[in-house]
Amino acid sequence: MKIGIISDIHSNSEAINCVLKNIEKVDEFICLGDIVGYGTEPNYCIKKVKDINCRCIGGNHDFAVVGKLDINYFNYTARAAILWTSLQLKKENLNFLKNLEKRIELKDNVIAVHGSPQNPLLEYILDKDTASLIFSKFNFKICFVGHSHLAGCFSFNENNNQIDYINFSNGGYIEISKNKRYIINCGSVGQPRDGNPQASYGIYDLKYNAVNIYRVSYPFNLTQGKIINAGLPRSLADRLSYGR
Ligand SMILES: [Fe+2]
Repeated sequence: MKIGIISDIHSNSEAINCVLKNIEKVDEFICLGDIVGYGTEPNYCIKKVKDINCRCIGGNHDFAVVGKLDINYFNYTARAAILWTSLQLKKENLNFLKNLEKRIELKDNVIAVHGSPQNPLLEYILDKDTASLIFSKFNFKICFVGHSHLAGCFSFNENNNQIDYINFSNGGYIEISKNKRYIINCGSVGQPRDGNPQASYGIYDLKYNAVNIYRVSYPFNLTQGKIINAGLPRSLADRLSYGR
């Protein structure tokens, strides 16, 4: 059994198309939120996740677009894109976003959230201190997260209480070991921020108890042209070149 893990597509049709073209055969897909926001293809990206029968969690952008999260949590550029997106979405897709879950249980003790288990919509797990707190408060074996757009993995060793971080900005591989617990971010499909502009995704292989993170190039110049033509803030286009 293999699960394809995608997150933070952010209305980027070029990136999601390249990921779905590149990815090996999986048994199911999950999306860890932020299907929309920033980019110009929200309806297309929602159709895509529906087409692949993807189980989806709602992210902060998804819920802000439908009025379930205060837009004041966002900076100017994000707000501009959220307001723009809310005017573009078909009614059926607004309803789809409204009804997204905040947490998915993949199997016993393997969960998926957008930000973190204690604050699914807004908390970023960016450092070992935050990860340590989450490991102490929650008893998952693996928690898959999105939100930060940084591919990487925090692990907690139960024998010596040590927390390690591995950066997966160029892809990578984690073998799940017996004495460790994990917070894994498979990166962002549509707006990577870890210095690598390639789209990021993961595959959780339950048979081999391992997670692979992959990066794939996509024609971001097309995405940038659409963002500029739509009149969205220029920085949303520029950052795609650098993966920042
Ligand atoms: Fe996001």
